[in-house]
Amino acid sequence: MRHAPFAVDRAAHDAWLRHMRTALDELDLAPAYEAELWRYFTYAAASMVNTAG
Ligand code: HEM
Repeated sequence: MRHAPFAVDRAAHDAWLRHMRTALDELDLAPAYEAELWRYFTYAAASMVNTAG
């Protein structure tokens, strides 16, 4: 809901996820933690899209 004033389209989704991927890779976490965080990031990013395009 706090993103409602901002247009979040597919390009923003992809850019955000790309940065999260880079950050996650830099952490070099144990596979279980890495997988759980990535699962959250992909789910959350998809939920934030509020604008077509
Ligand atoms: C104009 C662009 C954006 C602004 C100004 C913005 C701003 C914010 C702010 C202020 C927070 C709260 C941070 C906190 O609680 O400390 C937040 C959280 C978050 N943002 Fe964004 N954001 C933007 C774009 C995006 C995009 C493109 C994505 C992914 C597609 C994204 C995903 C998230 C997620 C997953 C959270 C945490 C969960 C939640 O708030 O429900 N944001 N953002």
